Amino acid sequence: MTRSVLTVNDLSASEISEVLDRALETKRQDRRQSAELAGKTALLIFQKPSLRTRVSFELAVTNLGGSALYLSPPEVGLGERESPEDVGGVAGRYCDLIICRTFDQSNLERLAASSGVPVVNALSDWEHPCQALADVLTIREHGGTSGRTLAYVGDGNNVARSLAIAAAGEGMHVRLASPNGYELDSASVAEATRRATESGGSVTLMSDPVAGVSGADVVYTDTWTSMGQELEAKQRLEAFSGYQVDAELVGNASANATVMHCLPAHRGEEITDEVLDGSQSVVLDQAENRLHAQQALLAWLFD
Ligand code: CP
Ligand code: NVA
Repeated sequence: MTRSVLTVNDLSASEISEVLDRALETKRQDRRQSAELAGKTALLIFQKPSLRTRVSFELAVTNLGGSALYLSPPEVGLGERESPEDVGGVAGRYCDLIICRTFDQSNLERLAASSGVPVVNALSDWEHPCQALADVLTIREHGGTSGRTLAYVGDGNNVARSLAIAAAGEGMHVRLASPNGYELDSASVAEATRRATESGGSVTLMSDPVAGVSGADVVYTDTWTSMGQELEAKQRLEAFSGYQVDAELVGNASANATVMHCLPAHRGEEITDEVLDGSQSVVLDQAENRLHAQQALLAWLFD
């Protein structure tokens, strides 16, 4: 069966757990090279810039014995030069796997429907599921997930959506503190709550960042202006003032709290240099874990 990961909902809580167990085992053994993708080719189609996602996916494919081809934003023309169906149909004849970063979630669905090969979401406007896998892996390594509290402060965006659902499935108490009009959508909250109910976790939406962070074990934030929202930057800066993760806000969290950010950071906006570079920050572990989590995911998809 061809399995795609277009949203985090394409993986059940137990499947996420299985993939992360595998990632941890591989990481602990420092066993980077294997052959699950031997003889296979992955096509990376990116409509937005990337450092972490591109590099970690290319390395993951190479470490699994496969080869990766990268198409940059101007080369693709997804939906402009050619329809997603034509791109998918052609890519499926050349390649065994498509890894795609795009704006509209429907592009991923259309590639999956037309290509006949697994499609993995490398970030869309709607979700960033592979980031969430790496984030949950990082939380597992820094004190564990089940029963602990994750406070996400900021925009109810692609990163928040995937993270809330994945973390709730691991039994975390997820708090999302966002200004009015920037909350996570109700369908995603419902899915996160459904998973939390099964795992013993919980999901709470609030607007007060201090209440959100109070006593939390993990404090997470992301940019206020995501890729593609640049025209809204000014109004977003105003809407999110008061939601900056600075030392004072983090001071409300548990004394051992870790601070997370998917990067790239807009330093001085959603997070201060002091916090991002401080002793509680685990952002580089998160970035490293993109590789381990995605390598495990790809191996699992081709099992
Ligand atoms: N976190 C993340 O996806 O980073 P890039 O945009 O650099 O890939
Ligand atoms: N929310 C951010 C995440 C970047 C990795 C964006 O979509 O630009």
